[in-house]
Amino acid sequence: MESIKLNIAKASQFLKEGAVKEFEPKAAEAQKALEEGTCPGNDFLGWLHLPTSISADFLKELQDCANTLRANCEAIVVAGIGGSYLGARAVIEALSNSFTWLTNDKNNPTILFAGNNIGEDYLAELTAYLADKKFGVINISKSGTTTETALTFRLLKKQCEKQRGKEEAKKVIVAITDAKKGAARAAADKEGYKTFVIPDNVGGRFSVLTPVGLLPIACAGFDIKKLVEGAAAMEKACDINVPFYENPAAQYAAVRNGLYGEAGKKIEIMVNFQPKLHFFSEWWKQLYGESEGKDGKGIFPASCDFTTDLHSMGQWIQEGERTIYETVISIEKPNKELLFPNDEDNLDGLNFLAGKRVDEVNKMAELGTKLAHVDGGVPNIHISVPQLNEYYIGQLIYFFEKACGISGLILGVNPFNQPGVEAYKKNMFALLDKPGYEEDSKAIKQRIAEEA
Ligand code: PA5
Repeated sequence: MESIKLNIAKASQFLKEGAVKEFEPKAAEAQKALEEGTCPGNDFLGWLHLPTSISADFLKELQDCANTLRANCEAIVVAGIGGSYLGARAVIEALSNSFTWLTNDKNNPTILFAGNNIGEDYLAELTAYLADKKFGVINISKSGTTTETALTFRLLKKQCEKQRGKEEAKKVIVAITDAKKGAARAAADKEGYKTFVIPDNVGGRFSVLTPVGLLPIACAGFDIKKLVEGAAAMEKACDINVPFYENPAAQYAAVRNGLYGEAGKKIEIMVNFQPKLHFFSEWWKQLYGESEGKDGKGIFPASCDFTTDLHSMGQWIQEGERTIYETVISIEKPNKELLFPNDEDNLDGLNFLAGKRVDEVNKMAELGTKLAHVDGGVPNIHISVPQLNEYYIGQLIYFFEKACGISGLILGVNPFNQPGVEAYKKNMFALLDKPGYEEDSKAIKQRIAEEA
């Protein structure tokens, strides 16, 4: 099997000579701290050797559960938010037919995502869509108390029971949550749902290779064994014993810290040239944003889908403030084949492309963009992926996770907590008069009145 490849040449040229090498001791120190569990956030390191520790029996248990859901559901709603949502969506969208929701695919259930917003229209439209469907629910919440997910689960549990009867509903509702605590665990225990545990030592954004990601991915019909194999291969490629210059995770962590600190590049744009990777970038944004954005520090993770966004964001990227760099995920070989058609009238003047693979045109757009952006002062990190399949996506996932741990530690933050996420929740609960928030409620209402 091949491997994803990292090329930082067009990024390190923006740094002084030897700048990346200067990070070698810090990267080594970070890796040692991860291995020895001596870094901040060391109670959340369960992801570090997860790929090589997933057993065949556990994958079978997940697959059996997925098979039951697939056999009994036309649609499966994956209810979760943030780390309990984005990993599954990233993989499923990357591997699915782009028009899967429009095709009448009898072999695979439609996978829907909810519990990731409080949009009344969204939820009303979802429940209306499901009204005549045999549907199941995967309720994913580590804390079991997340409002967005809990609200969705309330709605869907009632609807599922109404449409299928309580006993039948039990067969198609699965909870992925804490081993003991939280509302999702309590509901699952009370009703007797099939459950999977989110390990205590794996934080949400690092949990895609736990049942949080694996069960929905298996439900969508994708090969979770191959995904885990890819991740395990990358775990070895990024091992602490791999020399700095051969270790992609250490290299990526080093160059991005160099770009941030030395070159003032405060924004990283994750770029793809395949729209199927849109949600992969969303997953990556959470991974890096939540891990590094703290203590007044951190690269802002952004994303663009090219060539689409070259027609909207291209101007800014080419000539705007020079605080950005790009990381491009490039898929070497498409899974389908399509030729640029000849046209007798040639009104658009594009017959010079006739007969070429569409991907060849895309690749030239990619190369042309890279040259233009580098010339315009935008460093370019290039990640080449042999093909869009489970194995290489597994590699990408682990590569970014390991690099994130190293990078956050080099930056000097705790990459495994997210204290800032609580601030909006506290205000929201105070505004909604949640019991226990009386003091906050009084204070926030007074503040709003004064500011009005
Ligand atoms: O990465 C994280 O920890 C968060 O994004 C959580 O996954 C997210 O807030 C959902 O939390 P929970 O799984 O407890 O519902």
